Amino acid sequence: MSTDVDLGKRRFLTASTSAVGAVGAGFVAVPFVKSMSPSARAQAAGAPVEANISKLQAGQMMTVEWRGKPVWIVRRTQETLDTLKTMDGLMSDPASAESDQPEYCTNAARSIKPEYLITVGICTHLGCSPTFRPEMAPADLGADWKGGFFCPCHGSKFDLAGRVYAGVPAPLNLVVPPHKYIDDGLIVVGIDQGEA
Ligand code: FES
Repeated sequence: MSTDVDLGKRRFLTASTSAVGAVGAGFVAVPFVKSMSPSARAQAAGAPVEANISKLQAGQMMTVEWRGKPVWIVRRTQETLDTLKTMDGLMSDPASAESDQPEYCTNAARSIKPEYLITVGICTHLGCSPTFRPEMAPADLGADWKGGFFCPCHGSKFDLAGRVYAGVPAPLNLVVPPHKYIDDGLIVVGIDQGEA
């Protein structure tokens, strides 16, 4: 019970912080964006974004915005990585053969470094944003739930590699965007690993 309350509080605090951050960013960005030419604005909208992951703890997720979409970065525990290996039979496309990810992420963890999942936080069904549900067997998702993402719109479920469960409306795994590591604590979303 107290965990639920704490989780609720944390979600609220996160939402408040994001809102304040967004207002602040908007205030600063508007004069700058207005001064840009249309083509420069278009370029900026598609520009790569940096994400400082140095403070992300195991089990946590952070979000950055790239091309107007949320990109989630999840730091996975070893337990999570071990659990993922046992879930292939529940997945629609366990080896990500049909899914959208860079070639360097077509592997069991769908990532460059197994510890970090980087994925676009948009459901592949009709585009809602799924909810991060890392906990094991919560009451509303059932005893078999081993952590992942749940889309409240039509009930699609994804594991912590962004792989979609079989038998849900979403047809494909979550998209893994191009990204690269600058160093252990910094990644850039929007540029392929190996690109300058
Ligand atoms: S949009 Fe996610 S299940 Fe339909």
